Order: sequence, then C-alpha cells, then structure tokens
Amino acid sequence: MSLVIADDKKSLSLDLGTGIARFHAFWLRDNSLHPDTKSTSNGQRLITLLDQPADITIESAELSDRNGLKLVFSDGSIVHDFSLSWLVEHSYDQAKPETKGWVNEQTRLWGAELNHSPPSAAYNAVRDDKQSLKQWLQDIRYYGFALLTELPDHPEAFLEVVDWFGYLRETNYGRYFEVRSEVNPVNLAYTSQGLQAHTDNPYRDPVPTLQILACLENSTDGGESIVIDGFNAATQLQQENPEHFELLSRYCARFKYAGESGVVLSSKRPMIELNADGELLAVRFNNRSAAPFVDIPFDKMTAYYEAYRHFSEILEREESCVSFKLEAGQLFIVNNLRVMHSRTAFSGAGKRWLRGCYPDIDGLLSTLASLEAEETL
Ligand code: FE2
Repeated sequence: MSLVIADDKKSLSLDLGTGIARFHAFWLRDNSLHPDTKSTSNGQRLITLLDQPADITIESAELSDRNGLKLVFSDGSIVHDFSLSWLVEHSYDQAKPETKGWVNEQTRLWGAELNHSPPSAAYNAVRDDKQSLKQWLQDIRYYGFALLTELPDHPEAFLEVVDWFGYLRETNYGRYFEVRSEVNPVNLAYTSQGLQAHTDNPYRDPVPTLQILACLENSTDGGESIVIDGFNAATQLQQENPEHFELLSRYCARFKYAGESGVVLSSKRPMIELNADGELLAVRFNNRSAAPFVDIPFDKMTAYYEAYRHFSEILEREESCVSFKLEAGQLFIVNNLRVMHSRTAFSGAGKRWLRGCYPDIDGLLSTLASLEAEETL
C-alpha cells in the first residue's frame, strides 16, 4: 500500500485500491475525526479554520489496514483516525463533470415509458413497514414523484403521510388547500379547465419543494393528472439546442402572484437553475404566474422567447408525459423542484375534489438517509 508525502509536505498521495488519491494537509487537519476536532456526540466541528496555521504541513504519516491513517502535523497535532473506507468515501481527487446540466446518480430521468409502471405503493404497507417506507421515499428521490393508494376514507389522511417522513410548510393557502371547481376562483387551478404543465408557486422564494395532491372525489369525465420530468425536459432541450438551454439557465425569469388581498409574492429566478458546478438544481415553469421578464438584454429577448417556446413544446410532447386518473383514496407526491404536473380539462358533471399540501424535501431526504444508515449498521 503506497503512501507518499509530497516534497513540500503540503499534501500526500495514497493508493486506496481504487486508484491514487491526493489529500491536502489543511483538508486532512480540518476534517479530523479526533474528539478534539469533532464532537463524538453530534459530529459537529469544534474548531474553526483559524485554529490551524495557514501553512500547515504533514510531518509524518503511517497507514495500516487495522489503524487507518495516522498523521503528525507541523503544529504538533496528531491525527490517527482516518479509516481506509472513510478516505475512499471522501476522496476528492477525481475528475468532476465539466458540462452544465448534469444530474446526480440518485436521479433517474424518465418519460412516457413510466406510464406502464409509475412508482406506487399502498398506504398500509408504507405506514407499517420500514422497508416499504424506505422504498417509497427512494422512488420519490429517484423519479421525483410517486403515487400512494388505498388511503383511509377520511379527508385528512394525506396529512398523516407527511408525518411519516417530515414536516408541512404552511403558506397563505393554509396548511393545505382545496383544488375543486369554484364559480369565482382566486386561482385558475380551481376551475375545470385544463392546466399547462407547471411547477407550483414559482413566485415563492424559497419555492415549495414537495407537493402532495390527494384525491377525495373524482367522478368527472377527464381531469387526468399528468407528470413530466422537468430535468429530462431540460436535458432534452440542451441536446436539441444548447443555446436554448444556456439562455434559460443564464437569465432570470420573474414570477408573481397577487391574486388575493394582502398577498404579493414575487421571485426572480431562472427557469432552469444550475448549481455552481453545473448540476441541475431546479426547474421553474408556470405560464399562469410568469411576470414580465425584465432581466434579459434586449438583443437576447428574441432568442430567449424562442428557447421558452422550445421548452414549452418539449413539455407538451406525448413522450414526456406520464398520466393517470387519480381516484378517491389515492395521492401523488412530486418533487416540485423537478417534476411538473398538469391536468386535462374535465366536464362540469360529477365532482373533482383534491386536497394539496407542501411538505419540505429536506425532512424527506433526512428520514430516507436515516433509514439507509440503519440498514448499514
Ligand atoms: Fe399545481
């Protein structure tokens, strides 16, 4: 097993069995798992960067299968707590994606092929069995949406589902909101007309991260729910016209909602949002609440609108859409940062009554990570 300290002692390189990986001295000191540096009870760091000298070097290093990596630093501190598995897991000396618009390995892009088998689970199984809960949450992380069937016959059963994995975000629409036909709707969602694919409430910042829509009654003709993978659509846009992708990710759109007394919500964000390293972070798309775009230069506006139209057309394609008719006692949950939803128009006969709410995705991912950690113990 090779271990080499660089001539300037400011880094070392290790053969971890997965290839040579280099680590900087200041990085190793900063990430020490020693009880003087990291709390053994909550894992939080007990030192600041200023507690180590800026020019810290590695004076000696030993590596063994049994004891891991033992280091002595120039400030006299001794660290002997890096296991090989920890070093492999946290190695950063590898090529990173250079391109824009990539997705992480926990994301599976999809289109109409999921019509045959959308991710779905039964209420009782997910409530009673940890493995089923974990699988359902993994599906939400992977696909960005999932269905849940066989809910108990009471109108707030969908709120219990949120308790299984996290917490609700309350908004001006309340803890939850009704989606049903209304004579004088404050929002077009409350009419019987079809809706274009959209993410919810892009006029909020922070935007709702998850949405649950639960069906209490649906005896109408039509009113099918449709979900569309916005990350897949953005990827498609990039493949078909890189400049269009660049325009929608480079310039900010604006969104606004002031449809009720005392509420003026507005945001300024790109329709396709990337992380600093080019990873797809979020899509925001909603024709109803798009405000005048004023952050795009005059000489780019024509091309921007062409890109906007192109993106809209991709969302309309049959191969982008997964559809299902939600029956009473069923719900679906979407990652509102990624998956768009829409519905077809429905007739005035019969009733269509849905209830929705906005749980936060951090709680879901936390619960899932905790369930996955239990598995490895
Ligand atoms: Fe919506």
